[in-house]
Amino acid sequence: MIKLNCKNVSATIVGSENGLDLEQEFETYKENIKQIIASLNQRKDKPGQWLRWMNLGYNEETLWYVKEYASMVQGRFENVLVLGTGGSTLGGKALSEALLAPFWNMLAEEKRNGFPRIFYLDNIDPDTMTALLDTLDLSKTLVNVITKSGSTAETMSQFMIVKDRLEKLLGDNYRYNIVATTDQRTGILRQISEQEGYKTFVIPDDVGGRFSVFSAVGLLPLALVGVDIDEIVNGIKDMDLALKNTDINENIAAQNALIHYLLDTKKNKHISVMMPYSSRLRYVADWYVQLWAESLGKNQDNDGNPVNIGQTPLKAVGATDQHSQLQLFNEGPNDKVINFIRVGEFDNELEIPNIFEYTGIGYLGGKSINQLINAEADSTRVALTDYQRPNVTIMIDKVDGYHLGQLLYMLEVQTAIAGELYNINTFNQPGVEQAKNYTYALMGRAGYEDSASTLREKMTV
Ligand code: PA5
Repeated sequence: MIKLNCKNVSATIVGSENGLDLEQEFETYKENIKQIIASLNQRKDKPGQWLRWMNLGYNEETLWYVKEYASMVQGRFENVLVLGTGGSTLGGKALSEALLAPFWNMLAEEKRNGFPRIFYLDNIDPDTMTALLDTLDLSKTLVNVITKSGSTAETMSQFMIVKDRLEKLLGDNYRYNIVATTDQRTGILRQISEQEGYKTFVIPDDVGGRFSVFSAVGLLPLALVGVDIDEIVNGIKDMDLALKNTDINENIAAQNALIHYLLDTKKNKHISVMMPYSSRLRYVADWYVQLWAESLGKNQDNDGNPVNIGQTPLKAVGATDQHSQLQLFNEGPNDKVINFIRVGEFDNELEIPNIFEYTGIGYLGGKSINQLINAEADSTRVALTDYQRPNVTIMIDKVDGYHLGQLLYMLEVQTAIAGELYNINTFNQPGVEQAKNYTYALMGRAGYEDSASTLREKMTV
């Protein structure tokens, strides 16, 4: 199981201005946490609670259909192209990057065991889109379009471009190159899929985008490129079992949620840094950034009081960002809590050859890159602590499906518990709507004419 080491948030180590009396805080919040965990588990099946992501580890039916479809199309496509944005792609991308062999798309087919390359098109930059679509042989590409609402402008405009090209290339048969993941009943993509006869997968009711990674949203693209999704699900189930424990002393999601909440509200640590010491976990940090930001950044609490709360999440990758952000983390404002992720065992052992005797670098010879990256993780943690910067370390034995299932699920539960502590709605995102509506207005969507003229006035200012 993954572990959390939180001793470096202790006031005895980083000082009372920056740290917490953990034993005392755990005791004070014991009952509150117990109730929160019990309540989340009681409410998870209730419609409208947006907690059904807690059931995704047990969705045998989806798992079966995903695997069946993946084996049915195996060998038919050279590429998988995922279209989507935000919660519809961040989780799949994070897991693909972590679980596939690094540089997957550059490997020869035999090295990929005959599985396709995978591309996530999660933005609408005309240059990168054009380049990618001109590079891929679309006739040999399976396009997985993912959108819960079925109407997100970014995703649907990508889809319109790709569909048009596919149809021109393949005629009526183009539909076999498309698989849609969307709401079961509602939305334009559901309508189109039914009219055109696409294969579809469902984003379950009461599962929001940023909590959807373990539905077909994340699992289908992974299965299409040969990732063992059963391993991931085993990780989720084991973590779910562990996190059902209502005792804060035994529940790492509750501990980290409470630590973040208290550091934010009592110690002015308004930034939460996610810093994996693993390039393969780079996009896990991106995924976390969205999860923490969109879930907790709210201007109203559950009682209707104005609040403006939520920590700002920040991505950093070790060791790379030691040469970019560490100076700020150590000596800049003491307003952060850093989450290190430390990997126990890498897949490869890479030795540094003993080829130079210069004092400045000779010591590296004969050691391994593995030793070096973990030495850097440890020394950065200690240095930050010396500077009295509170930090926690999430330790994962290996970057594999089992541990990634645990890690992402743990962070989801942590977010849900933090939302309860802040007393806000963790699962909505009203603040995203304003800009979306303005975009609709600017792009001439019917019904948005009034906003369009107000907007044009504001844009001249
Ligand atoms: O987490 C969320 O809810 C959002 O990031 C959505 O996933 C994102 O806006 C995309 O929405 P949709 O899946 O409806 O296209």
